[in-house]
Parts: sequence; structure tokens; C-alpha cells
Amino acid sequence: MSKAVDFEERLARHLDELKWLYCELYPEDGFSYLCGRLKARYEERRASLKKLDAVRESDPDWYKRNDMVGMMMYTEAFAGNLKGVEKRLSYIQECGVNYLHLMPLLDSPEGKSDGGYAVADFGKVRPDLGTMEDLAALTETCHKKGLSVCLDFVMNHTSEEHEWAKRARAGEKEFQDRYFFFDSFEIPGQYEKTCPQVFPTTAPGNFTWLEDEKKFVMTTFYPYQWDLNYRNPVVFHDMTDCLLNLTNQGVDIIRIDAVPYIWKELGTTCRNLPQVHSIVRMLRMICEIVCPGVLLLGEVVMEPVKVVPYFGTVEKPECHMLYNVTTMATTWHTVATGDVALLKRQMDIVNTLPKEYVFLNYLRCHDDIGWGLDYDWLNKEKDMEEVPHKKYLNDYLTGKWPGSYARGELYNDDSASGDARLCGTTASLCGLEGALEEGNEEAAARAVRFIKMLHGYMLVQSGIPVIYSGDEIGQLNDNEYHKDPKKAEDSRYLHRGSFSWEKAELRKEEGSYQKEIFDCIRRMEVLRAMHPVFLNQAAVWTADTYDAAVLCVNRTFEDEKLTALFNFSGEERTAWINEDGMYVDLMSGERMEGKEVQLPAYGMRWLLRE
Ligand code: GLC
Repeated sequence: MSKAVDFEERLARHLDELKWLYCELYPEDGFSYLCGRLKARYEERRASLKKLDAVRESDPDWYKRNDMVGMMMYTEAFAGNLKGVEKRLSYIQECGVNYLHLMPLLDSPEGKSDGGYAVADFGKVRPDLGTMEDLAALTETCHKKGLSVCLDFVMNHTSEEHEWAKRARAGEKEFQDRYFFFDSFEIPGQYEKTCPQVFPTTAPGNFTWLEDEKKFVMTTFYPYQWDLNYRNPVVFHDMTDCLLNLTNQGVDIIRIDAVPYIWKELGTTCRNLPQVHSIVRMLRMICEIVCPGVLLLGEVVMEPVKVVPYFGTVEKPECHMLYNVTTMATTWHTVATGDVALLKRQMDIVNTLPKEYVFLNYLRCHDDIGWGLDYDWLNKEKDMEEVPHKKYLNDYLTGKWPGSYARGELYNDDSASGDARLCGTTASLCGLEGALEEGNEEAAARAVRFIKMLHGYMLVQSGIPVIYSGDEIGQLNDNEYHKDPKKAEDSRYLHRGSFSWEKAELRKEEGSYQKEIFDCIRRMEVLRAMHPVFLNQAAVWTADTYDAAVLCVNRTFEDEKLTALFNFSGEERTAWINEDGMYVDLMSGERMEGKEVQLPAYGMRWLLRE
């Protein structure tokens, strides 16, 4: 079959729906232009990628296997530049990783980059990191080694240094129309009434006054990140083209950044509007037409009811994968309270969702931890109020609470709402940094156990576990960012420090905590890949342990059954479970009954029924 036929066939398959959605948002006359651009991007796609597309099309569940392990990292922090990453792929593979998320690496102005999330040129790699050719070469090598590469597509906004923004600033109406420009604060003022703030302290408000232009521009995130106006078909066409340029460099997974925000409407919160779903659905179809091997990962940092719609429906899917964000936040609530009740409830909610949904599970990422918890439930069941509870969590995790070794820092501490979010690496939040500082060996050993246990808990969940680079060797906070004026304002840099290759070497040294953590995670990944009970299709449910600090997660698939136990308390505890049969702890090899199981402080067990 000739190649063009593939494209035409796939286009024909989606044409009706694609055109229908397109015409709901845009005048019909642009549609054939869009199709022309899709075809051009298809033709330009290299043969090896088309081959990979075909392989994945014939195995559409390729990303749902239990041997998938992700890692996310900053190129510069890990290895300086893209060529450096390529040289270090053996380490990434040693970590068992086959899904690599490189944080934003496109051209972005230093000091006004929001960690790369303010893109000045979607067709250019940040010069200090390399070139588009380096990116294409890296993905090619990754594919040969069986690794997929994920990259952000920052579609909600551009940097103020983007050519469109510059031309808009110079007064060109055509380019102003790609953003939201206003002569006075009249309309912005109306938006502000219903549209919440993302960065209330580091970037208050949703608009920025441009002194030279004497106009307001919409800036939901930082003032230098100008929101794109997706009502304008040119924006949709050009941004779609930018996306396909990235997939043509061999990017396998597109993380659609801040996607709930891409459509704005007066009188609304400007979040999760129906048009957002139309656009995501169109992007899904466009990828299926041009590059069917590519996956969409939606970044929806919201409560479950708002996250799940981004999967779309079985007939009309949107994202392939989404972050399990509420579970992540609830994990840290559990770390701070030592009470698993809310986590159990949250896992129950996720476990009732269709097995086709793929969640990315993670402990930490480049962003802060926002306290998006189920406060109605906490209030009703635990008599906890939102604001004081957040204060408790923040106090505990910043080490202010007596007995806490955690070393987090606040993020966007908003005195008006009493809201503050939190930053820090897994190891520092688990108390390793504090314990080492004080030279308390016992506390350090407990912290190491805690780090291992949390990874064991992450790996027991269905979906793709994603390690935050550095966590596999217990990397501590980077306090140096305070001295860098370009970073000091944004405490997320606390957990964006350079990867320490010196410390990583210690993973080979007997008795080091690096080795203990590294080996443990690796071993759990191997077990996870070996046992079908970890497959996405497995039945998963939590069970009561009659100890507030102990979480029990059961999984079954065919004739395998796993009972996993996690102790969130700093003391030895007993899980008062009563499961039939004899079990073997996959980690220690011990045999035991599924009854009254002892767990050391912050200990865990993965019990497989014999
Ligand atoms: C996403 C990113 C975050 C960034 C924001 C704006 O939420 O994860 O780091 O600040 O988008 O692009």
C-alpha cells in the first residue's frame, strides 16, 4: 500500500466528526486548508516513525503494559543538554525506565521562562540545550533502545518574546487577534469576577498592562505568558502545525500543558469549557490521522470529576493518559497525618473507573503540591476545616511541627485565602534531609524506609508509575536556588536542582542510602513487570486494616492475588487483615498468613498469594 493511501484512509475515517467539530468553532472555509497542512506534515514524517506508527496501530494497548516505567527530568539538570542525555541513556535504562519525559526544552527567554513553559519559538530548541536535529537524533536513539519520549506542548500561551507577541506589541492587529487584547480594564474587570487566579502571589490577576501599547493582555499564568485566543482559527491551525512538527521529531507522547485553560468565555471560570474538549478531541483525531503512534497526555490538575472527562468516551476518546493528581496530593496529606482514610477513599474512587483509563502515578514532579483534597469528606468524617488543615499540612511538611523532619517550602502563600501550596523533593519531604542535618541516624533510616515505601505504594497502583529524576537516589532539596535572582521568587526550584552524578555513583556502594533506595525501586519494577497481577486490567480494591495508619491494597488478575500493605506511621504497626491462604512477601521472601501482619515504621509488604 502506498503511504499516501494510509493518510487518506485515516482522514476519511475521521473526516465527518473532525469537520463537524471544526465547524462548530470555526468558519468552514478553513477546513480544507487545515487538511492540507496535516497532509504536508504527514508527508514530511520520516519512514522510521511511520513504521513505528504502524506497529503501534496494530498494538494499540502498547502503553498499557505492566513493564512501563516513566521518569521525568530537566535536560539541563540531568545532563546539560540533549547530547548529554543521549550519552546518559544507559543510566536511564539502568533505572528500568522506558518512558522519558523531558521537561520543556524549546526556546524560552532566560529569567522569563517559567521553567520553559513560556515558549518563544515552537520550532526551535533552547540553544544551550541543542537543536531540533539533536532532539530528532535523541528520539531515534531512544526508539532503538525501546524508550518513548514525552515532551510538553505548551499550547495555552506563548512567551511575550514569541514573534506573534512581538508583532502584536508593535501594533499589528492581525497578531493582537491571536491573543486577548483590551483597551481598558472594562472587560478584563468582568473576567476577573469569575476567573480564579493561578499564581495569586507570584503573578496576581489574569491580565497585564502593556505600557508601550497602552493595552491590557490576558495572562492567566505569568505576565510574560500571553494567553492564546483559540477562537481565532489561525491560532488553532498554527498551533496544530507546531504540535505535528514536534511529533515529526519523534516525540511519542505529547503532554498538553494546562489544557483546561485554553478556551475563555466571559462570565465563566475559563476552565474546562466544552470547547476545550472539542479541541482536544480534534487533536486526538489529527494525531490518529497524521501520526497514530503518538499519545496525548493531558495535564489536568483538578479534582477527579473534572479530570476524567478528558479521557473522552470509548467512541470519541480525547487523551490517552492523565495524571492521577488527587491521589498524589492525598498521598502527602497521608504522609503528614499518618491517617490513610482519605487516601483509601480516593483510591476507591479511582479503582471504580474503567480499566481502559490510563493514569500516570507520581509522588513528585516539577510542580508544587496543591492541596486539592476532598474537604467535604474531611469535614464530615474527620471534622477538619479546609484552611486550618492546609495550615497543618504546610506546617508539618515544612518541618515546623514538633517531631517533623520534613523540609518543604511554601509556594504561593496567599494570605487572602489562607491557601498555600508546597514544594520539596520526596526525600526531603520524607525527612531524610532533616535527619541527616541533625545527624540522627535512626531518623535517617526511617526516612529511607519511608521513601522506599512510598515508591512501593506508587508502583502498586494501576497505570504508569513516573519517577521524578533524582528520587531514585533520594536526592535532597536544592537550596541554592535562593541565591539565583532569576529563580528565587519561585520555590518550585527547590525541587528542580541539578542531578548529582557523584551521589548517583553511591548507588553502587554497599551501605549507602542511594543504593538502598535505587535497588529497592528497581527490584519492585522488575516484580511489577513479572507479575500479571500488576496489569491495568487487574481488579483492585482497598481493604480495612483496623489501623488508621496502614493502607491495604488488593489486586487480582486471573489466578494471581496480591495484598499490599503500607504503614504511614513512624511506629511499628499491625495490619489486622484476614485474607485467605498463605502468602510470600515478594520483597523479603518471607512466608506468612494473610492475617495480623506486622509492619515496621514506614514499612511495606507486597504479599503474593501462593
Ligand atoms: C503547567 C506546568 C507549570 C507551568 C504552567 C504554565 O501547569 O506544569 O509548571 O507553570 O503549566 O505553563
